[in-house]
Amino acid sequence: MERIKEKYKHELARFDIQRNNIHRLWNIHQETAELLYTFVKIKAPEHILEIGTSNGFSTFWLSIAAESCDAVVDTIEVDEDRFKLAKKNLVNRKNIIQRFGKAELIIPELTDKFDFVFIDAGKINYIDYIKILINKLNNNAIIVADNVISHKDTVKEYLDYIESSDLFDSVTLNIDSGLNVAIYKAK
Ligand SMILES: C[S@@+](CC[C@H](N)C(=O)[O-])C[C@H]1O[C@@H](n2cnc3c(N)ncnc32)[C@H](O)[C@@H]1O
Repeated sequence: MERIKEKYKHELARFDIQRNNIHRLWNIHQETAELLYTFVKIKAPEHILEIGTSNGFSTFWLSIAAESCDAVVDTIEVDEDRFKLAKKNLVNRKNIIQRFGKAELIIPELTDKFDFVFIDAGKINYIDYIKILINKLNNNAIIVADNVISHKDTVKEYLDYIESSDLFDSVTLNIDSGLNVAIYKAK
């Protein structure tokens, strides 16, 4: 990953500065970013959905991974300041569609299907996101949810659902804030 970090060092330095100077960006940790990048490279999806853009740090990592498979990254953010900051940070990325608003209102309006989803927004809403996403997932779609260990009580309903549903195979990784990785199996 050192080669990638060197290639994008100017863009990544901007995120470092913002993380140290702006409160409440809640960016994923570096190891999670690199894992997301790797998952996207392995999966080679056509269409990626991210719920919770913040200033675009995780979006950036999804976007650079998505380049090699010509995938599009759709990303949703409800906070206007963070949405605008992400716009500036991601201005040179050509494979990103940024959407402003509540994910639970935007997702039902999306007509495309997704084969890679990263969930990193309101923890209490994870269960709502997955339920409205079900009919927007391609077979074998990968759904990665962050903070499933750091916020395990808040996301309990989501984890219980994913782990008990025969629509998903999943594993929880004890990395950074805790990542649940699920594969959707269409019936
Ligand atoms: C943990 S941060 C995302 C961090 C980002 N993924 C990263 O690593 O750079 C969560 C973001 O989700 C946004 N959010 C919370 N509830 C949301 C909702 N219902 N719809 C869209 N975005 C939401 C918050 O405003 C916040 O910016």
